[in-house]
Amino acid sequence: MTPSKAVTPVLFVCLGNICRSPLAEGVFAHLAAQRGMADRFAVDSAGTAGYHVGEGVDRRSRAVAAAHGIRLEGAARQVSAADVDRPGVVVAMDASNLRFLKGLASKRSRAEIVLMRDYDAVEPGAGVPDPYYGGPGGFEEVYEIIERSCRALLDELAKRTGAE
Ligand code: 4NP
Repeated sequence: MTPSKAVTPVLFVCLGNICRSPLAEGVFAHLAAQRGMADRFAVDSAGTAGYHVGEGVDRRSRAVAAAHGIRLEGAARQVSAADVDRPGVVVAMDASNLRFLKGLASKRSRAEIVLMRDYDAVEPGAGVPDPYYGGPGGFEEVYEIIERSCRALLDELAKRTGAE
């Protein structure tokens, strides 16, 4: 059988859409590109809250991404009901984001709403810690968590779509 060429939307969601979810978006896109699968995914990010709408990515997230060869761009936006109703994978950074997204989704939702660290072999089911009020060490820790979780998520989606 010919593998499906369908594009899977993957939306990463945190609270503000300036620290964790733009980092996850950039890391996932980078890993997919490294595996020759960039065109198989429409990668995006959003926040559950609207405090930072229109702002660029936090400079500390940009710095940690740059240290790993990844450039982060884009402006913060708030997640919408349409985001959690259309088919695709919606990845919450922590349990609070997950609750919010499940509450936002309608009965007709066709999205698969999951937790980022459901894919983390080190501490499955934990939250990606919010680094906003901490120091730069927190951003490196968040990077490591996001990178290993994104690798496992990509493995799972690649298997599922027959993309490799
Ligand atoms: P994020 O981090 O959810 O990873 O983007 C935060 C950004 C802003 C705030 C909290 C967390 N804030 O309270 O403004």
